[in-house]
Amino acid sequence: MKSPQVIGMKAFIMFCVVSIIFLCLIGRDLFKIESVSERIAITYQYHFVLVPEELDNEYWQLVQKGAADAAAVHQVYLEYLGPKQADLDDHLKTIDMAIAGHVDGIMTQGLDAKKYKPLFQKARKKGIDIVTVDTDAEGSKRQVYVGTDNYYSGFIAGQALIADTKGEQYVGIVTGRLDAIHQQLRVKGFQDAVSSEKRIHILGIEESAITKSGASSAAYQLLNDHEKLTAFYGTSALDGVGIIQATTQYRSSDEFYVLAFDTLPDTIKALEEGKINAVVVQHPYEMGYQAVESLVRLQKGEKEETLQHTETSVVRQKDLPLNQTERPQGLQP
Ligand code: BGC
Repeated sequence: MKSPQVIGMKAFIMFCVVSIIFLCLIGRDLFKIESVSERIAITYQYHFVLVPEELDNEYWQLVQKGAADAAAVHQVYLEYLGPKQADLDDHLKTIDMAIAGHVDGIMTQGLDAKKYKPLFQKARKKGIDIVTVDTDAEGSKRQVYVGTDNYYSGFIAGQALIADTKGEQYVGIVTGRLDAIHQQLRVKGFQDAVSSEKRIHILGIEESAITKSGASSAAYQLLNDHEKLTAFYGTSALDGVGIIQATTQYRSSDEFYVLAFDTLPDTIKALEEGKINAVVVQHPYEMGYQAVESLVRLQKGEKEETLQHTETSVVRQKDLPLNQTERPQGLQP
């Protein structure tokens, strides 16, 4: 028989044990909440948005990777928002949404200075910093441009064609978008470079809508319209692989000299296989990385260089494998 005192004592001890466990659990949760909020406060000093031309585009994913790595170093909360497929109105709408969201900084292409200026002005009035990436909109109220000198990149493409070919050349140009300033500059630079070389004739230009299938249709069109074609120049990242899809089916791709843009894996594979002859190299990872760093400096009130050109060069099969860039996070494409 247990006395009532013993039962009472046991019940009291049990109550104490349960209370202690309960308090410990609550205390741990309270502590957890506090440490998470502390972490958020420490982790994110700025909120930036990167608005690409097209979300799932492999080229823009490299820009995003660079931006994300820099964001991690500088305590930036980074969003990657934009059109699923290249579309100027959607692009402008996304920037407008970012402005309405009162972010601290926006990185975006400046495809058309006139159309982007009112939005950039609106952003600046709210204290939002604007950096154009990959494509500059000069005179649009952006503070900084980080990216390729697009005229120069077209010019060195033209010089590569001159250096790599002999005799009469008949060129078809496949360009991402006829209405985008960076694509226009890549064509203009190329035209200027080859203009002094009488043996080089540009026969036509078609738009790819920055897709591989669009580039392939554009190349077919050029092949149908101009029997004499001997060379192709593709001015956006998927144009080279689209062109060789068409040339391989039309005739042997080796008969054409193909000049492409950007070192995406399929393009480099085609360069390795000799289906593409030369590639203009841009540095999308660096663009993303440097654009975030530039926005951070603008946020701190530091003075920034307006034009921050990333490197551009031409590579051929003999230059493979390509060198990578060293960054705090390791080797980057
Ligand atoms: C251009 C980007 C474009 C991409 C399309 C690149 O060469 O620099 O502006 O969005 O091609 O795939």
